[in-house]
Amino acid sequence: MGRPCFYVSCYIFVLREQKDLTYHKDSGFDRVAWFYDWLAGGVFGKSIKKAQTRFLDHLTPGSRVLIIGGGTGWILDELPDQNLFVFYLEASPLMIAKARARKPVAASNTVVFQLGNEEVLSKENPFDFVFTPFFLDVFEKRRFSHLFFILDDALKPGGKWLWTDFVFPENQPFNQLLLNGMYVFFRILCGIKARNLPPVGPFFRSSGYQQMAQDFFFKNFISSKVFLKKSE
Ligand SMILES: C[S@@+](CC[C@H](N)C(=O)[O-])C[C@H]1O[C@@H](n2cnc3c(N)ncnc32)[C@H](O)[C@@H]1O
Repeated sequence: MGRPCFYVSCYIFVLREQKDLTYHKDSGFDRVAWFYDWLAGGVFGKSIKKAQTRFLDHLTPGSRVLIIGGGTGWILDELPDQNLFVFYLEASPLMIAKARARKPVAASNTVVFQLGNEEVLSKENPFDFVFTPFFLDVFEKRRFSHLFFILDDALKPGGKWLWTDFVFPENQPFNQLLLNGMYVFFRILCGIKARNLPPVGPFFRSSGYQQMAQDFFFKNFISSKVFLKKSE
């Protein structure tokens, strides 16, 4: 009697939590904010950080940089000290609180923290760089497509999009299992809707982006790329 009761209680708890998450849909990562970095490091080791920092040398002094979905903000400590203007847009209040609590390492950079999602972005005052670190994989195809064009509008012609994410693990049963497991985990805990990686490549290609650089990590399961937006 005890065990079924326990499972039923857990089920009801998860259902109630998911209802809450639908209401505050983009703040679902609040539930994992306190252990997210620890978990990511535990599963992927240094690959997560290596991948996200791989192409930061493309940033140019004095440029305007949008970081969306940056999580706890450790990436801010890795930015070059180059008088950058960084707009740090995060939907999870707990993630952004952690990012805000960091002591700035690069003294000349200015960081503006903004709680919210892509809807706060506009075409006015576009950025020189857009950075999406393990961010686009969170969205199912329809939302991803909407989001892609909002971010495209937020990037200047001739600007660069720094993209880091998982790539579909062809012929790698273990990584396929890991990917499916991650989607189940984040669907239950954070309320994400995606079940699979979005079709990023075709979107960049059909929007006229040119891939300038790429690198792979964790046996090609993680990739970082730099896409150049065409100049007008
Ligand atoms: C998979 S986590 C990646 C965190 C971080 N980039 C890292 O790799 O450590 C995705 C992040 O995107 C944030 N997020 C989800 N939807 C968002 C949205 N629509 N706008 C801004 N941030 C969002 C989540 O709160 C979470 O911090």
